[in-house]
Amino acid sequence: MSSRKKFIAGNWKMNKTPADGVALVNDIVAAVGKQSDVDVVVCPPFTGLESAGKALDGSNVKLGAQNMHFEASGAFTGEVSAAMLRSIFATHVILGHSERRTLFGETDEVVNKKVLAALKNQLRPIFCIGETLAERESGATLKVVQTQVERGLDGVSKELATQIVVAYEPVWAIGTGKVATTEQAQEVHAFIRGLLVKLFGDAVAQKVRILYGGSMKPANAPELLAQKDIDGGLIGGASLEARSFVELVTAAAAIK
Ligand code: 13P
Repeated sequence: MSSRKKFIAGNWKMNKTPADGVALVNDIVAAVGKQSDVDVVVCPPFTGLESAGKALDGSNVKLGAQNMHFEASGAFTGEVSAAMLRSIFATHVILGHSERRTLFGETDEVVNKKVLAALKNQLRPIFCIGETLAERESGATLKVVQTQVERGLDGVSKELATQIVVAYEPVWAIGTGKVATTEQAQEVHAFIRGLLVKLFGDAVAQKVRILYGGSMKPANAPELLAQKDIDGGLIGGASLEARSFVELVTAAAAIK
């Protein structure tokens, strides 16, 4: 049994108007708003953050953004800063999602700047890493993940490292319906934990939650969540409906 509290986050990606988001949050709060055995976070698009934040106010459900800029302010058209996210009571921010890396050209260096800026502003990064299908098939998975972790977390202090949540998302499993086997996922999660030990020491590494993401659904979650180093999930498709998202939270709460 792990002493780490399970963590379930919904990444809505570019879905839901503010009104649709409020309806979804209302349903989530009604079902699991008092849940204290699992950290539950919803991550709407920027336009839905403030209204979703008001809808979850007073519950245990927390608010996360999907991206941010690393600078504090200035001429960065289309971007928002960590302080802006904090001002509407976001507590978490997804950083380095594979869609940001591949579609928007985010490098490890950019992701690193974002991680450092988020921590400086008391925002908790949900730091995403993962290999492509070609990388897995060529046997490069662990090397790729190692580079992403080492570069992405460069300069993070031991003291702040416990604020980070790592999300391992094999790119080939995202939105494809293909889920990593429990053995594949646990192998990479254990490897990531080992990297965290090297970077921050054992005590810190044992506290950091490592989430799995990639076609996680109520049907496959219990087995994944029961693995020693899988501390929760970053959920895309199944987070868009209250029923499946709530089932995932309930599945995480059932793991003792
Ligand atoms: P899916 O759950 O839709 O595969 O998406 C996973 C993901 O990218 C979460 O960030």
